[in-house]
This record gives sequence, structure tokens and C-alpha cells, in this order.
Amino acid sequence: ARMPADVKNETKKWTLEKENELRIECKGKITLQMRSGACEIFGSELVLGKKYTFENSKFAIFTWIGCELSVTGKCESAYPSDDTPMVTYINTHAALQKMRQDAKAKGNKATGPVVMIAGPKDSGKSTLARILLSYAVRCSWKPTYVDLDAGQNEITIPGCVAACPIDQPIGIDSTWKNRGPLAYFYGHTSPSQNQEIYKRLCQKLAESVEKRCHRNASARHSGVIINTCGWI
Ligand SMILES: Nc1ncnc2c1ncn2[C@@H]1O[C@H](COP(=O)(O)OP(=O)(O)OP(=O)(O)O)[C@@H](O)[C@H]1O
Ligand SMILES: [Mg+2]
Repeated sequence: ARMPADVKNETKKWTLEKENELRIECKGKITLQMRSGACEIFGSELVLGKKYTFENSKFAIFTWIGCELSVTGKCESAYPSDDTPMVTYINTHAALQKMRQDAKAKGNKATGPVVMIAGPKDSGKSTLARILLSYAVRCSWKPTYVDLDAGQNEITIPGCVAACPIDQPIGIDSTWKNRGPLAYFYGHTSPSQNQEIYKRLCQKLAESVEKRCHRNASARHSGVIINTCGWI
């Protein structure tokens, strides 16, 4: 059931069952607080009682064990759902986790998983990348994030392809910026605008990431998550 909280600054309490999510879309500012239990937003855990502010956002708060939330402010839409891909996502994480452990156990030369996320526009690719990176970091790995989406590059400015090491928790409201990224300027928003140069830059980026993984055992075992632009 869709239940828009349409009175400004009204506080609404939500109780989420385990493995459910609360989907929120807001234009104006809203404040979110976890009252009990545990929950996470795209892989980053909320702190009990801490106030989080969102503006012009679309996101989901997922709980593995159940939780109580309060939301203050006007949401365009807010509704709970048990239709979430999180179980598939955590199983994917578990498979990657095993590959990382195997790489570490094998010793120095072994490489962890290198995962490329592909799919149609707006299918949740960037969200999945964020979740897999968050889970890896929560398990003390130091994966490398590669964003090949030149149209809406998350690591740096649009028009670039970029990579950065993820060696600390991502956090709810933090961005990827200022994490020591390596970026190549492409100058267009879509690979089709100059395929030759796009490929060249992706290759340069791949070589740099490979070099880093060669030097740094922890980065090598942790592996790489690659985000791409939407294919239609
Ligand atoms: N489970 C979810 N519940 C609600 N909103 C979600 C959920 N997963 C992702 N979203 C939202 O859906 C939108 C699209 O997700 P995302 O940006 O990850 O897709 P994408 O495949 O990377 O898109 P693009 O092709 O434009 O790069 C985002 O605004 C994201 O916050
Ligand atoms: Mg994306």
C-alpha cells in the first residue's frame, strides 16, 4: 500500500519486518532515524538514534532482522516492500567472499574476484556496486571501485572514467569523492561518441588498476568491482 506522508514535517513511524525494505522518494528535506533493531541503506548500516537528512533522493532502507524507523518531513512516496533483491545480493557477496578468501589462502600471486556489473538503464547497477563494496569493506577487504559510466561518473566528474580504492566504510551520506581516485578525462557522456578513445582510456585504467593490484596484496585479494553505463 502506498502511503504518502503529505503533511509537512509530520513524523511517521514505521515498523519493518525482517528482510523487508522501506522505499522512499522525497523532493524536499526529510529526516530519518532508526529507533530500534538494525537496518542499512545500500549496504551501509544506520546508527541507532542518529538523524540522517535526505533531499531529492530515491532510496530504500533494508533490514535483515526487523527495525523501527521514524521519518520526518514530506515524502513523495514511502512504502514498505518484501520484494527486494537483497538476498540475491548477499549470496553474490558470499560467493565473492569465498573467492577473496581462496585468493588470500593461495598466497601472493592469486587475484580476488573482478566483477563487472552490466544491465539496462536504471536497473540498479550503481546501487549493486555500492552494496557489494560496502559488504566487502564491512568484512575488512579493500576492494577497488572502477566506474566506467562517463555520463554520471560517481567517483569523479562526468565525462571521465575512474578508479579508486575503497579502504574505509562508505557511510550513508558520504560520496566517493576525495578517496584518491585515478581518473581519465574522456570528454563525452556515452562510449558511442568516440569508441576508439573510450576503449583506450578503459585500457589505460585497467593497466593502472592491475599495477596497483600487483603491488598491493590486500588490494589484489580483495578484487575489483566495475560499474558500467546502461545498455539499451
Ligand atoms: N531497492 C530499491 N528501492 C528503491 N529505490 C532503489 C532501489 N535500488 C535502487 N534504487 C534507486 O533506483 C535508482 C536507479 O538505481 P541505480 O542508479 O543503481 O541504477 P543504474 O542501473 O546504475 O542506473 P544508470 O543506468 O542510470 O546508471 C536510484 O535512484 C536508486 O537510488
Ligand atoms: Mg549507474
